[in-house]
Amino acid sequence: MCSTTCEFNVYGVIEYSRYERILTIGDGDLSFSCSMAKEIQNGLQITATTYDDHDTLLQKYENAKNNIKTLKDLGARVFHEVDTTCEGLRFLIHET
Ligand SMILES: C[S@@+](CC[C@H](N)C(=O)[O-])C[C@H]1O[C@@H](n2cnc3c(N)ncnc32)[C@H](O)[C@@H]1O
Repeated sequence: MCSTTCEFNVYGVIEYSRYERILTIGDGDLSFSCSMAKEIQNGLQITATTYDDHDTLLQKYENAKNNIKTLKDLGARVFHEVDTTCEGLRFLIHET
């Protein structure tokens, strides 16, 4: 890992800048977003979304509850019922 003055850091396979923001779409049980937030030890730049609503997510995936907690503890924003085919996604992209 490079020094704190370096603009880009490489964490495993993830290369990101502290100036970049990350939006994940259709992340089934949020495990991908969760892994990424843990890898870079920072969720502040991450907005994680699921297609399922919150209750459905918890029913379908046993890890979902923990993944949501971990993401929020690391500062990430988590949204549910985000449909890539809907207009609302444009709002998220602009806000993220
Ligand atoms: C094959 S799973 C992949 C999940 C996750 N990316 C992974 O690798 O574990 C496809 C995901 O896309 C989501 N999905 C389906 N239609 C969608 C839509 N219109 N907008 C956003 N997500 C959608 C599903 O809820 C499901 O979680």
